[in-house]
Amino acid sequence: MMKKILTIIALLSVGFSFPAGLFAQQRTTVRVQTSDRDGALIPKEIYGQFSEHLGSCIYGGLWVGPDSPIPNRDGYRLDVFNALKELQVPVMRWPGGCFADDYHWRDGIGPVAERAKISNNHWGGTLEDNSFGTHEFLNLCELLGCEPYISGNVGSGTVAEMSQWVEYMTSDSGSTVAMERKANGRDKPWKVKYFGIGNECWGCGGQMRPEYYVDEFRRFASYCRDYTGNRLYKVASGASDYDYNWTEVLMKGIGNRMDGISLHYYTVVGSWSDKGAATGFSDERYYQTLAKAIDIEPVLKKHIAIMDRYDPAGRVDLLVDEWGTWWNVEPGTNPGHNFQQNTMRDAMVAAYTLNIFHQYTRRIKMANIAQVVNVLQSMILTRGDQMVLTPTYHVFRMYKVHQDAQFVPVSYTTDRMAVDERTSVPTLSVTASRKDGILHVSLANADLTVANRILLTWDEIGPEGLTRTQQKKLSVSGEVLTSASAGDYNDFGVAPKVIPAPMKDLKVTAAGVEFTLPAHAIATLEISLPL
Ligand code: AHR
Repeated sequence: MMKKILTIIALLSVGFSFPAGLFAQQRTTVRVQTSDRDGALIPKEIYGQFSEHLGSCIYGGLWVGPDSPIPNRDGYRLDVFNALKELQVPVMRWPGGCFADDYHWRDGIGPVAERAKISNNHWGGTLEDNSFGTHEFLNLCELLGCEPYISGNVGSGTVAEMSQWVEYMTSDSGSTVAMERKANGRDKPWKVKYFGIGNECWGCGGQMRPEYYVDEFRRFASYCRDYTGNRLYKVASGASDYDYNWTEVLMKGIGNRMDGISLHYYTVVGSWSDKGAATGFSDERYYQTLAKAIDIEPVLKKHIAIMDRYDPAGRVDLLVDEWGTWWNVEPGTNPGHNFQQNTMRDAMVAAYTLNIFHQYTRRIKMANIAQVVNVLQSMILTRGDQMVLTPTYHVFRMYKVHQDAQFVPVSYTTDRMAVDERTSVPTLSVTASRKDGILHVSLANADLTVANRILLTWDEIGPEGLTRTQQKKLSVSGEVLTSASAGDYNDFGVAPKVIPAPMKDLKVTAAGVEFTLPAHAIATLEISLPL
């Protein structure tokens, strides 16, 4: 049934769309508005990660301990570490998530053998030995060269506990707490910029009403102080997707006392009890997923509109500090561990979502995909000593060129795939940025069957087109991520099916650059403009 609707829509759609099987290719001209020099910088923190004590994100994922037979550097798993280094992770959130409001930081410091063993009640009751704690996390961030983003415990913690954690991490005074850190092996304080005052305080973080949380934020945040030149950026626990009232009440009641307010948006299709499988999905599910993913855009607009009303000067940032796909767990795995596979469909969700974030950086200053290893829409999956890079990882690697680059608007017409009577998905999504005289353009073709012949052109190309000399001088390269099926994924012990490849068909013409973007493919082009 879905197929029929799709075919009809493809036949009726305007622009350059043809049904699959007839030409199996559409044509699109993408114009990059390079004469627009007003674009905001795309904050690198949009490419943030999230690591929680959940399943094997920390233990077996980031951390195996120094005595593990798995190659490691001071306990950090080397293969994972090196893969993350390659991504240029700008910021990493920790220790949760829901775990954060169950976490008591003192459990995770001091001699490892003496650390408290607790039950990770939120995530399957797994035994948590706290061998990965504050030192292990902050040292990892230093090694990766990323900013730490700590989530403090409001739900079951105390003001004094949170206050002392900040002091322990960031103070260079001779106070007892700072001296305790030194005794535990870290002489100089760490720099900790981002600090969350609770997580999902409307849910797992305390089931609070927004009015109550406002007062809790004010109380807890008052005692999170700036020590030794460290300046804390305080993040309020924000809304879940469509809860605009939460944002309204916090903007009104907390206002400029917070530097940022968070937002959580998960791509869940179906019900929470049956979210569907990560692999082996229908075409219908594929498009429904993309429809849900891009529904983040109106959600962002509504939260931003509320923020604009209370804070027209833009003093408070919006941080989407949890986002991504959420499927049923892989069969045979612990239901509390949220371990899921990751296909080209997840890669497409990542590309479409990042392209949306790029457009709202006036207010959105950070986003953290959930989560970095082995949980939900991961970059990396591990099993024993094996590791696979997911299709989502490759999107993040191909997109890292946009970090701290200047946003450049693009214009193009795309057809749309109907999902139901009211919902449709654009089959093409494009974003561009410029840095150091290099233009990067990322394009995602979500269409499952129809390739897109793209003409990429930009403002400096006048009606007369590029001369032969200009064409010769143009340096263009690109990488494309696709695979035989949108359901393909990279699995343990077999050759990866979804890996980026250099684009071989880039053709420079008088009009710009021409190439074919295959069905369900994502590409990033690099163009140096000597014009
Ligand atoms: O990312 C998994 C969980 O999703 C987080 O712990 C929580 O904040 C959210 O509900």
